[in-house]
Amino acid sequence: MPDTFGKNALLLSLLLGLGGVQNAGASNATEAALANAHGIPRPAVIAHRGASFDAPESTAAAYTLARDLGADYLEMDLQRSKDGVLFALHDNSLLRTTDVAKKFPQRKDSPASAFTLAELKTLDAGSWFNQAYPDRARPSYVGLPILTLDEIIDIAQGNPQYKPGLYIETKEPRQFPGLEHDLKNKLSERGWLEPVASAEAEGKPLVGQGKGRVMLQTFDKNSLELLQKEMPDTPKILLLWVGEGGMKPSTSVSFADSGEKDKAAYYAKQHPKDKAEFIQWLDFAKANGAIGTGPSAALTHGGDQSYFDLIQPWMNSAAHDRGMLVHVYTLDAPVDFKKAMDAGVDGIFTNRASELLTYYQRPVPQSVNQLLEKNGF
Ligand code: G3P
Ligand code: CA
Repeated sequence: MPDTFGKNALLLSLLLGLGGVQNAGASNATEAALANAHGIPRPAVIAHRGASFDAPESTAAAYTLARDLGADYLEMDLQRSKDGVLFALHDNSLLRTTDVAKKFPQRKDSPASAFTLAELKTLDAGSWFNQAYPDRARPSYVGLPILTLDEIIDIAQGNPQYKPGLYIETKEPRQFPGLEHDLKNKLSERGWLEPVASAEAEGKPLVGQGKGRVMLQTFDKNSLELLQKEMPDTPKILLLWVGEGGMKPSTSVSFADSGEKDKAAYYAKQHPKDKAEFIQWLDFAKANGAIGTGPSAALTHGGDQSYFDLIQPWMNSAAHDRGMLVHVYTLDAPVDFKKAMDAGVDGIFTNRASELLTYYQRPVPQSVNQLLEKNGF
């Protein structure tokens, strides 16, 4: 199956003339051809909530910086306001990343989706970053607003030279019935469900202009099915997790009972129940239209984005054998970039787009500080 698939994908790629996306650092012709056929760079640089190491996550500072560094994709977690507007926010609650406790003390614990867009727009989504990371703080981050999907699309389109794609996660989709349909409507309205015809005609579309300009991602099997129904021609990734909402774990010991000092140490020892359980998720993904998977990784230095090691070489080979790509989340250190690439992944979600681009020896036009200042931050 892999050999036959590889030849077909390579032939398809050559016939489609999709030689324009980067392949630096990647060697496997089958996966390279698959990525090319979908217009997805390989290895892909996916800016997780924007350039969120250097600027407050999911704000204009983070997304314009990621774009202007040359990241391939702007990643976001999609939610819907009380009055039906799609916006980007990772957490269910507004407490961690906004001043909701000050502005709406009675409703501070309510989900973000219980607020209208006008209410969300009154919140300061930047100051928390200055307090959490004083060494990266900037006065210009104070007061940065939450962004709508429309505004992130404007950012993605806003630089004539750099055109990143959008890598959109349906966040907590069971909270948002019809989210997949609303997303389809918005992307269609903005012309983002088709490649940019003029760029295609020239033969070398930038990522945000080509067939892979939108990537859809979800942890939720039902949401994958709905995304496939709504947008059958848009590439999709099934995100992988062990435990609640994900693969059955090898043990049912809770974090509280585990004796581990932090969640990262606990997650690092958690594994899928067995090989069959892992494979079952791949087969579900493939059968429901996913062109790849998004596994987690255990980070060398731990931290709050260090999860399960789901990028062991056999796991990546199993995805590749099924004709699927592997985009791992969320790595920031060169030691982890190397481990992941050596294990065979095809792209990396990162909070530090500048570091990952440098690791891949891709040009970064200016420093992070210069680009932030150029963009008014
Ligand atoms: O979407 C990939 C990665 O972002 C998943 O983790 O929790 O950061 O959305 P999370
Ligand atoms: Ca995400």
